Amino acid sequence: GLFLPSQDSPTTLTRFVLENIRSSKAPEDIVDLISSIQFACKKIASLVSRAGITNLTGLFNEGKSINIQGEEQKKLDVLSNQVLKNALKYSGKMGVIASEEEDVPVTVDESFSGTYVAVFDPLDGSSNLDAAVATGTIFGIFKQEVSCLIEDMADNIEPSQLHCLASTLQPGSRLLAAGYCMYSSSTMMVLSLGHGTHGFTLDPEVGEFVLTHPYMKIPKRGQIYSFNEANYHQWDPVLQEYIENLKSGKNRSGKCYSLRYIGSLVADVHRTLLYGGVFGYPGDKKNPNGKLRLLYECAPMSYLIEQAGGKATNGKQRILDIVPNTTHERQPLILGSEEDVDELMHVYTKYA
Ligand code: AHG
Ligand code: MN
Ligand code: MN
Ligand code: MN
Repeated sequence: GLFLPSQDSPTTLTRFVLENIRSSKAPEDIVDLISSIQFACKKIASLVSRAGITNLTGLFNEGKSINIQGEEQKKLDVLSNQVLKNALKYSGKMGVIASEEEDVPVTVDESFSGTYVAVFDPLDGSSNLDAAVATGTIFGIFKQEVSCLIEDMADNIEPSQLHCLASTLQPGSRLLAAGYCMYSSSTMMVLSLGHGTHGFTLDPEVGEFVLTHPYMKIPKRGQIYSFNEANYHQWDPVLQEYIENLKSGKNRSGKCYSLRYIGSLVADVHRTLLYGGVFGYPGDKKNPNGKLRLLYECAPMSYLIEQAGGKATNGKQRILDIVPNTTHERQPLILGSEEDVDELMHVYTKYA
């Protein structure tokens, strides 16, 4: 007879968002944005997995194209950014967009509605791409706070409209939705609309993200620390002592931790979310604010971790409370299991 899917057919991302919109404070039309973003992520997943075949590994413009971060852009940094902007373009919902790969926030929408602001890191961990190591896309959605009408649909904002930039400079506590898509052994979308953090796995057979990790909860404590120890000698002595104690077992858990560091924020955060422990990209003598960008790396990741019962700080204050001063502002980031982050903060206050 006919093959009828079983009654409990998998919950797709679209169905999950529709069902949860009704019960969450996220506004109805955010569904359109999430579906635009998920389309873009599926496209980027396909581009990343076939990069070696389509000659899309390596640097854009022979490395002559340096982004505002001072980084040589990869071909896929540029392409992923374009894919995301195009996907959001016709949603009819977009106001200003801030991206790691755009010097200043841009508008993308012919029918500029000014309802939402999107912030994103189109390809996170792109230095790992040529080695086929996990990479990802990180995104966040805010309400467009500043009422700014952009007359001409220029790609960049005219000086007279600079006040529109203000609509991107919002603290993470104001996020309506945040998430990442990780391109690894499986392609996973992890998303929060303010009611828990939920994981979806892309089923390549049907091209749909299906709910596989509802209400993710980070373990109260882990046994993994995730820092780039190459910077150890530039860290402050308090942090050095804390890391030494994790290795020697001289910490509240009495156990010796192991080190896992992939060098792609999305992959290191995803593993921390599932296995617990602590991830850090602290400030150091060379870079007092660390390397990670507040708006589209630290804030969305901190939102997801807190929604899963974890903590995220810059060493002094909660990441989600920090109001950005500039679009590409960097902040030190320590995030993970509640007891691990608390222990590090205790060590800091002991020496404050
Ligand atoms: P991006 O590729 O978007 O520029 O981000 C890279 C970041 C982040 O993914 C990762 O946590 C960090 O760079 C790793 O930096 P180090 O190589 O200095 O450890
Ligand atoms: Mn980069
Ligand atoms: Mn990044
Ligand atoms: Mn990036």
